[in-house]
Amino acid sequence: MYKVAVLISGSGSNMESLVRYSAEHPGIYKVTHVISDREAGGLKRAENLRVKNVTQLNRKDNNFNEKLLDILNSENPDAVVLAGYLSVIPPEIIKRFEGRIINIHPSLLPLYGGMGMHGLNVHRACLESGNDESGCSCHIVTEDVDKGEVLVQYRVGVEPSDTPEILRDRILPFEHRALPEGLVKLLTKKENI
Ligand code: GRF
Repeated sequence: MYKVAVLISGSGSNMESLVRYSAEHPGIYKVTHVISDREAGGLKRAENLRVKNVTQLNRKDNNFNEKLLDILNSENPDAVVLAGYLSVIPPEIIKRFEGRIINIHPSLLPLYGGMGMHGLNVHRACLESGNDESGCSCHIVTEDVDKGEVLVQYRVGVEPSDTPEILRDRILPFEHRALPEGLVKLLTKKENI
């Protein structure tokens, strides 16, 4: 059974989708550690879901990324999943887990990705462009933010009356499908792990 570490910054709904998927599809992977970079509602959610290890870090600590790497080294997961994680992963962690870190992004990448493109900024950019569709992408994390190989995408229609909040809420349930599906795709491509 593959071991998975999940990094979060927020409410942890994407993290929950990973834990629920593993319960519904037993024997593929287990979320063994949830780590946040700040105070986050998702920590309590992880405890309620009985995740074995739950750790809160502080992204403002000088040695924050060293602590994160130490935890990941001691956990030694097969994959690391960014599930609504807002800090940038430094090159030393990307190299340590090369090709084994994935992220969920609320747009059809390569559209509306890159530094600063998170949360409502993404949906605002989409609406301003006048596109009649958006969606979400589960992709491999590389040093170029939001540029790694896309594993799974779901497309979602955009209505003329949409606000960024409405579009966010329409896309989120598709993130909850794309993220575990992308993870399983990564784990079951044997050459990756
Ligand atoms: C959503 O804005 C989503 O687009 C982004 O993270 C947020 C969900 O956070 N990827 P969470 O998974 O509930 O913490």
